[in-house]
Amino acid sequence: MIDISASLLAADYARMGEEVVRATKASVDSFHFDMMDGHYVRNLALTPDHLRALRKYTSLPFRVHLELSNPDDVIEMFEAGDAQTINVMLDTLKEPRSIFTRIRTLGAKVGLTLTKEQPVDLVVPYIDEIDELLILGVHPGFGGQVMHPKTLERISFASRMIQDKKLNISIAVDGGINLTNVGRVISQGCTCVIMGSTLFKSADMAGLVQNIRRMNSFS
Ligand code: DX5
Ligand code: ZN
Repeated sequence: MIDISASLLAADYARMGEEVVRATKASVDSFHFDMMDGHYVRNLALTPDHLRALRKYTSLPFRVHLELSNPDDVIEMFEAGDAQTINVMLDTLKEPRSIFTRIRTLGAKVGLTLTKEQPVDLVVPYIDEIDELLILGVHPGFGGQVMHPKTLERISFASRMIQDKKLNISIAVDGGINLTNVGRVISQGCTCVIMGSTLFKSADMAGLVQNIRRMNSFS
């Protein structure tokens, strides 16, 4: 079953609680929180305080995506239970194993993210230690970009690798997912589609989520 994760970067920041309620009623499966530092990417985004403030609006899982230079320092700002998954970018990690341990101590699943330029096999040394591989389809930092066409091959490569190793790892894809490409993304092996603009700019989010689930049942 596909996990449709709503990326709050595209939500209306003046009505964040209502946006969480709207997406929950539309039957998304989880929320994606981009946390940015203005250094690793040229943007600033959400913080652990947003997780805590928004928790009262939904019981759905919160998935964090750290797009920042110093995850080892920032991880100290989380409290146990704040997030159900914490994704870190491989190119920002000094000691991947120590941050994985810290994430597990917080009661969260470990996600490892690749930029759109990084070969998928860079994750091989860590593959037994993660719960999720996140493949970025765009430059990190902003919503509303076009997904790089190579993303589809990258998903299918990752999916084969995970199946060959008989591992139970989710493949999440983030950036530029829309109604035109979501079916292909899922059929290549993606198990979690992260969607910002497509979901939050839609006047009929529930209809859109239903459409995606219907496509998935035919794939
Ligand atoms: C990009 C972020 C994405 C972004 C996706 O740096 O990691 O999560 O919100 O937005 P869309 O779906 O609009 O491409
Ligand atoms: Zn993201």
